[in-house]
Order: sequence, then C-alpha cells, then structure tokens
Amino acid sequence: MIGRLNHVAIAVREIAKAARVYREMLGADVSAVVPQPEHGVSTVFVTLPNTKIELLEPLGEDSPIAKFLDRNPDGGIHHVCYEVDDIRAARDRLLAHGARVLGDGEPRIGAHGKPVLFLHPKDFCGTLVELEQA
Ligand code: CO
Repeated sequence: MIGRLNHVAIAVREIAKAARVYREMLGADVSAVVPQPEHGVSTVFVTLPNTKIELLEPLGEDSPIAKFLDRNPDGGIHHVCYEVDDIRAARDRLLAHGARVLGDGEPRIGAHGKPVLFLHPKDFCGTLVELEQA
C-alpha cells in the first residue's frame, strides 16, 4: 500500500543553525525558512536525490512539536512520511487493521498542499507516521 518515502521530518530548536548544518557541512540543497502558522511550525526543505528532509522549528504558542522538543532537547526525528495513492482507502484499511488515526480521521491539507493523515506511533514501531496523497 505505501509507496515512496516522501520525507523524514526532524524537529529542531534553531532552524537557521540546522539549515547551515545541512547546507554547509552536508552540502545539501536547502530552501529558505518557510513559516507555516497554520501548522504551528517553520520549515526548511532539504531536497535529496531520492527523498526530502524537513527541518521543523516550533512557531507560535501551541506548536505540535513543542512537547517533542521538551523530551528531545537536542532535536530528533519527529516523523516519517509515506506516499499513498488513495489516502481515504489507506485510512480505511488501517482502521480495519486496528490502527489509530490521529485527530478526527479526516485528511487535512499538509505542508505541501496535499491531503495528509497522521498515525499513532504506538501502532507503528514507536514512530509517528504521516501519510500523504501522492
Ligand atoms: Co511531514
């Protein structure tokens, strides 16, 4: 069912510093900082030949990554995102297998303008999983 690895998201406290690490030390193709107030994060997109890395920094009061950074003060891998052809069909299959879909179960428009869902880490090997409509 799942297809390509769309991105790996890494939560950081200082996104400018993290962007420099990827641009200068790792020599990657790194975007400017993009504030996404509707998602409570600022993002930097690192484009690799076969996937992307997204650097996430908290933005605003109720950032969804604030608690994660409290637990992981040095930052860390926050989620992985897999592409699916049909996000509602994927959701229904997962629900039928007993997996927990976060929120109200309806896909939301994610950081790339496509429908996404998040799946409970306890059902997926301790990793928060994002599904994105390909
Ligand atoms: Co993501």
